[in-house]
Amino acid sequence: MEAYRRFKFDSFEDLKKELSRLGIELPLAEDTGMLQQPLRIGKNSVSNRLVIHPMEGCDGDSRGRPTELTHRRYRRFATGGAGLLWFEATAVVEQGRANPRQLLITGDTIKELAALFQETLDAAVGKNGTGGKPYTVVQLTHSGRHSRPVSKAQPIIAAVNPYLGDEKQAAGNIITDAQLEALEDKYVEAAVMAAQIGFNAVDIKSCHGYLISELLSAHTRQGPYGGSFENRTRFLLNIVDKVYKKLSGKIDIAVRMNGYDGMPYPYGWGVSREDHRRVDLSEPIRLVEQLQQKGVRLINVSAGSPYYNPHVGRPYDSGPYIPRENQLYAIERMLNIARKIQAAVPQTAIVATGLSWLREFAAAVAAGGVAGGWFQLAGFGRQSFAYPDFAQDIINTGKMQRQKCCIACGKCTELMRLDGVTGCVIRDAEVYRPIYKKLKAGKPSMVGKEVADHV
Ligand SMILES: Cc1cc2nc3c(=O)[nH]c(=O)nc-3n(C[C@H](O)[C@H](O)[C@H](O)COP(=O)(O)O)c2cc1C
Ligand code: SF4
Repeated sequence: MEAYRRFKFDSFEDLKKELSRLGIELPLAEDTGMLQQPLRIGKNSVSNRLVIHPMEGCDGDSRGRPTELTHRRYRRFATGGAGLLWFEATAVVEQGRANPRQLLITGDTIKELAALFQETLDAAVGKNGTGGKPYTVVQLTHSGRHSRPVSKAQPIIAAVNPYLGDEKQAAGNIITDAQLEALEDKYVEAAVMAAQIGFNAVDIKSCHGYLISELLSAHTRQGPYGGSFENRTRFLLNIVDKVYKKLSGKIDIAVRMNGYDGMPYPYGWGVSREDHRRVDLSEPIRLVEQLQQKGVRLINVSAGSPYYNPHVGRPYDSGPYIPRENQLYAIERMLNIARKIQAAVPQTAIVATGLSWLREFAAAVAAGGVAGGWFQLAGFGRQSFAYPDFAQDIINTGKMQRQKCCIACGKCTELMRLDGVTGCVIRDAEVYRPIYKKLKAGKPSMVGKEVADHV
């Protein structure tokens, strides 16, 4: 396996040369016009193929309501011109928040979330906006084993996993079947509120090792929510059925799902049972086929766990430690997963993940992916923190500007891990650099440390 290399491509030709040297196929189209084509999702239309991924700013208040920093982030996203705006992880219950500032959707927060939503739409159509309303999705989450609703971790675990820490401690925090059944209804309540607010869709978040993602791989769990494929997918599919039953026609359902966990069987989803470094999409494809049959028309495909193998799903470049894998392999893997899933469910719009590391060349990969049928929508995560108007630039000029791009330095993730509010330390430095400097002061350096990527 070719080792990690820093990003150093001055031209499209440089990137193509490196891809050919590594034997990697990425979709490439220098003409990005394709990205301007509208797309229908259910009854609604998305004005272009560019998506802002769900990106938490950890800047809610202690009750889970947005603050001025949250509003600022969404104003920036809204005026940036992306056709689809996927609102960040928003917990359906207090105990399932990933941090004490994660947004929460309950009767206590609905008024403030509605105000955030309205201001976002107004910004999109207003003076600095593009004049068009984006298609909006809100991501409903329960953080499962990564729950930390107060400053201390309070894990709620689907299945014991020796790769993720102390088995004895985990055994005391396993969520019961009755609790899971009751939690299904909390997702429905949250979906009802999302529909009242006016979102086009709710995402039943099933990625990155959080509760539903962990259930998908809960081979070792006993009872109705573990073991067989039917049992492991039961919680997600029950929620989908219940939301459709309650809200038929009033809101779309989307799913952000891992296609590949990169964690050994029997603890990983989308992995070969013999070798977890190999992708095996038989179960993810079976699941998306069922979701499509039920009416789901939007799936955002991601990979990995931010806590276990962060760079499987979030290629990293220039920070203080060295990932094991060459990032272009990680990008190729993610885009190929999107491609195979898109081929399996052609009526569903697949959103691809993993483009930010490519800087300005992401526009050509996004266009190539859409033109070649690899995926129908191209998602941008960190890029939307660094360069919220990337979509407008692509639409107006056909390309992105290098000097505005995310450099995949990982500082926004570091801010999260330091328990700070987060955003781009490099390109939105006026707000986030002072916060970063303050939180970093006195902390040990990570220079020279290798991250355990397990791939
Ligand atoms: C600071 C930060 C916050 C994130 N918040 C979320 C989130 O709320 N929900 C989610 O599904 N993914 C979240 N992600 C993951 C991104 O949506 C995205 O999958 C990842 O950054 C890879 O895409 P990129 O290469 O375009 O950044 C977050 C990532 C970062 C760095
Ligand atoms: S801090 Fe900014 S440049 Fe660095 S990874 Fe995050 S968004 Fe990209």
